[in-house]
Amino acid sequence: MRIAFLGKGGSGKTTTSASFIRHAAASHPFVLALDADVNAHLAGALALEGKISQLGAHYSELTSYLKGKRTDLGDKPMIMTTPPSLASNFVRPTAADPLITRYGLQQGNIALLTVGKYEQEDVGSACYHGKLEGAISVLHHLLDGDNDIVVADNTAGTDSIATSLWFAYDLRVVVVEPSKKSVQVYKDFIGLVPELAATTYVIGNKVEGPEDEAFINDQVGADRVLGFITLSRHLKRFEQGDTTALEKFQEEQSQVFDRVLATLKAQKRDWTVYLERLRGTHTKLCRDWYDSYYGLKLDEGLDMEFSYPLVIAGTQSPDKG
Ligand SMILES: Nc1ncnc2c1ncn2[C@@H]1O[C@H](COP(=O)(O)OP(=O)(O)OP(=O)(O)O)[C@@H](O)[C@H]1O
Ligand SMILES: [Mg+2]
Repeated sequence: MRIAFLGKGGSGKTTTSASFIRHAAASHPFVLALDADVNAHLAGALALEGKISQLGAHYSELTSYLKGKRTDLGDKPMIMTTPPSLASNFVRPTAADPLITRYGLQQGNIALLTVGKYEQEDVGSACYHGKLEGAISVLHHLLDGDNDIVVADNTAGTDSIATSLWFAYDLRVVVVEPSKKSVQVYKDFIGLVPELAATTYVIGNKVEGPEDEAFINDQVGADRVLGFITLSRHLKRFEQGDTTALEKFQEEQSQVFDRVLATLKAQKRDWTVYLERLRGTHTKLCRDWYDSYYGLKLDEGLDMEFSYPLVIAGTQSPDKG
């Protein structure tokens, strides 16, 4: 099951994602983390050390791996929303998965994939969505089951709805501070994708007392709130370099993270709906942008026999293109 933390800039998405990842890793064999923010801070918040491989910088290598033995694309390029084929290579959320081994930063039972940050050559000309391409392709080839934990720290605001990330997660948690502007991000999000409202919740962050809690409950409805996190002095210590301070914060807030975990585990993904959304989003993206760029109809001729359950059940023919 996949969870994404969203919210206004500075609301606490990365801090909450990192704490939740560590909380979940304490009771699960493996947690796959994804830093889906071009201003990548999740590795630091998780205190992971080592070289970070940016998915955005390895897009052609990555897609050539994910394509596997598929032949349905012919000469057409694979773009971030190209649905898989039965002959594609898939990603499994395990430490031994070849793609995770290659691009993930692993420590203990946590592996982190990172979208990629801006480089000097991007100045003035790069699109944020271009940096996300690799991560998006990976998510659409990820065969995570009900007991797997995949956690994404997203970029600020409602930006994820402009890509196929809008449906890629099973649960979304909007981290809101007790302010109107912060709450507005949640309201905007569910206003834009009302079909996701039932699986989109709120954590009230940096709350300083019952008035703040009442404000958030009143704004979003108490039934949408998974919990409140108090304004914590530990985080300033953490930002000053005391790595143990995040553990203290996490322990103090463990009830909230338990609730988030239980809510995540209560989700059930409908792979048929997922694939319908992927195909629909792919066609829209092709018509709006990619077809005219490549002078090709990129959504035609694709393997329509593909379905996720078929691959999960392992019934696909290895020669199928
Ligand atoms: N509960 C809290 N108590 C005190 N400080 C907090 C709390 N949550 C987050 N912070 C602080 O707020 C700042 C922003 O947090 P964080 O980086 O997690 O936000 P973000 O939403 O990921 O930001 P961005 O939009 O830049 O990615 C950090 O300095 C962090 O330590
Ligand atoms: Mg952040």
